[in-house]
Amino acid sequence: MSSTVGHPQVQAAAAFARERLGARGDEEVAAVGVVLGSGLGHVADVVEENGGKAVEYSAMPHFPTSSVEGHKGRLVAGRVGGARVVLMQGRVHRYEGYSAAQVVFPVRVLHALGVRRLLVTNAAGGLGDGFVAGDLMLIEDHLNLTGDNPLVGANDARFGARFPDLSDAYAARLRELAVKVATERSIALRRGVYAGLLGPSYETPAEIRMLKTLGAHAVGMSTVHEVIAANHLGMEVLGISCITNLAAGISPVKLSHDEVKETATRVGQVFSGLVLQLIPTLA
Ligand code: HPA
Repeated sequence: MSSTVGHPQVQAAAAFARERLGARGDEEVAAVGVVLGSGLGHVADVVEENGGKAVEYSAMPHFPTSSVEGHKGRLVAGRVGGARVVLMQGRVHRYEGYSAAQVVFPVRVLHALGVRRLLVTNAAGGLGDGFVAGDLMLIEDHLNLTGDNPLVGANDARFGARFPDLSDAYAARLRELAVKVATERSIALRRGVYAGLLGPSYETPAEIRMLKTLGAHAVGMSTVHEVIAANHLGMEVLGISCITNLAAGISPVKLSHDEVKETATRVGQVFSGLVLQLIPTLA
């Protein structure tokens, strides 16, 4: 791991965030954390409007900042239904040129702020049978096809074990909770496997046929490294994809970031409603 994103840097960023987010001393900020993907940042605005506090990534020591349109870069802490939560409004990606260790730096900061249950969200292309743009998918498992891993390099035992187990990477316990909450709210939830690719080009139709053969239902350019790092840290993870478009070769139209943002905005209300319901359940 690069020395610029090691344990001391995580501690420094967490200390800065704790102060800006109004936590006293080394008191935990929240036990529940949320990563909000492309166009899905609305929940953080709701939390901020209800008395939450925010800090820009660009103000924080060692924190990577995103260049992607539609991604803000802030940590927001506050309460939802009485439960304390800290949200990442925007994330960075491996395709922006950050190393995998830099990509997961914010997740390590969340852990240092007290987060033990992490909800990870993303915008993704859909390739599961019957999927349509606008579907929400509970991530049951992932395929890390980025060719990279945030744990490459010397292992820092303060973060976790050299060879972390990923057999419950998306915790069965939390998936059951999510299905229960979605059912109670009459929110339709697909389930499936998320394939994480490097990007930034979208896939070819041949690659999508390959991914289908491999058992994937959704494809995107984020999430898998964060989930590996979160499991390394011993966090329980829940993942939800917003299917913003049908994948290449399935979609009748060309893929574009505009379509991704449009669908994310359209589904935003339902998506935000689900996330706001889930937060107190995870506490
Ligand atoms: N492919 C990869 N990443 C994505 C897609 C897609 O179709 N849609 C949103 N993110």
